Amino acid sequence: MNTNLSKRKVLVTGHTGFKGSWLTLWLKIINAEICGISLDPVNINGAFHELNISSICEDIREDINDYESILSIFIEQKPEIIFHLAAQPLVIDSYERPIETFRTNVMGTANILEACRQTPSVKVIIVITTDKCYENCEWIYGYRENDRLGGRDPYSASKAAAELLVNSYRESFFKSQRDIGLATARAGNVIGGGDWAKNRILPDCINSLLCNEPIKVRNPFAVRPWQHVLEPLGGYLNLAHKMLENINLYSEPWNFGPGYEGIKNVEALVQEVVRCWGTGSYSACGHPSENSPYEAGLLTLDIAKARNLLDWNPKLGFSESVKMTVDWYKAQSDGINMVDLSCKQIEDYQNRQYL
Ligand SMILES: NC(=O)c1ccc[n+]([C@@H]2O[C@H](COP(=O)([O-])OP(=O)(O)OC[C@H]3O[C@@H](n4cnc5c(N)ncnc54)[C@H](O)[C@@H]3O)[C@@H](O)[C@H]2O)c1
Repeated sequence: MNTNLSKRKVLVTGHTGFKGSWLTLWLKIINAEICGISLDPVNINGAFHELNISSICEDIREDINDYESILSIFIEQKPEIIFHLAAQPLVIDSYERPIETFRTNVMGTANILEACRQTPSVKVIIVITTDKCYENCEWIYGYRENDRLGGRDPYSASKAAAELLVNSYRESFFKSQRDIGLATARAGNVIGGGDWAKNRILPDCINSLLCNEPIKVRNPFAVRPWQHVLEPLGGYLNLAHKMLENINLYSEPWNFGPGYEGIKNVEALVQEVVRCWGTGSYSACGHPSENSPYEAGLLTLDIAKARNLLDWNPKLGFSESVKMTVDWYKAQSDGINMVDLSCKQIEDYQNRQYL
């Protein structure tokens, strides 16, 4: 991959999580110097352990809600590029723990931005939010970066609030006072190896398949933009590269979703997982009951802006994305070396052409 991130000091928040682990491994492959700030990993069989992330970065465990500690890490580490992924990322958990969700996703993000403002080495900041930051109108059109922000459940609202916060920091501080680039990245529903989060459909599928049980599908008709984890991460790396070249041109929100073909309902995803696994079944629970927490029914992203202005495009179709994901979990259950396999998935992905 042609990148100017090589030998740069990069700080990743959320490096013990699913996406953060893959990002840290990819940054290592392109020869960046990496420091991670996160809480302890939740799952012992998740990407952080399987990809041996603690051996390839400075692995710091700290709560982003503790501003003083975060600031002293920034001052000591002197990072140039920040990827802020740390968050409470689950819709269902946000109903159970709304205060924690808002605290971490909003005030935690404010702490990171303020620490960036106080750290002279910082040049580029990319804050990872989500496709769920848009006010969901249940319409068939993909949301564009200039559509209205919103969010009914606490997770979505907290990410919309993080978007507003970023905009405020950009306009109030970074634009006029210092030469710092600040962008947000809104990805779709991500699948890939090493995610064992509860209440996410892909880990639910793999857990059931490993136990030879039918997969229980909570919300089969909900339509989402599915993409392999390497797709948005490639987008974030591409964006950081472009921002290092020209900070002011790219300090904006960016969608990184799949092509049209990746927009499918949950049932179609489960069917494809079962097909790739080679065996298994599922039972759809039908429409959510009146008592189920609200989750949007239809959500898609418009990626014309990233296609046209970043020259970024998806590289994987829906079936390939599911196959790469299922291959990873199968290899893990077969006891294969997951560092080698994951590096190979990244290298193969880098060598692919855009669709
Ligand atoms: N996975 C998806 O489908 C998806 C889609 C769109 C956006 N996102 C966003 O991408 C980011 C990463 O998501 P993920 O799926 O890897 O989640 P994850 O749960 O696997 O990882 C979350 C990370 O955040 C860290 N973290 C949480 N609270 C923290 C705190 N108070 N202090 C320090 N670190 C803390 C955790 O330790 C972990 O490293 C999140 O911001 C999420 O909202 C994820």
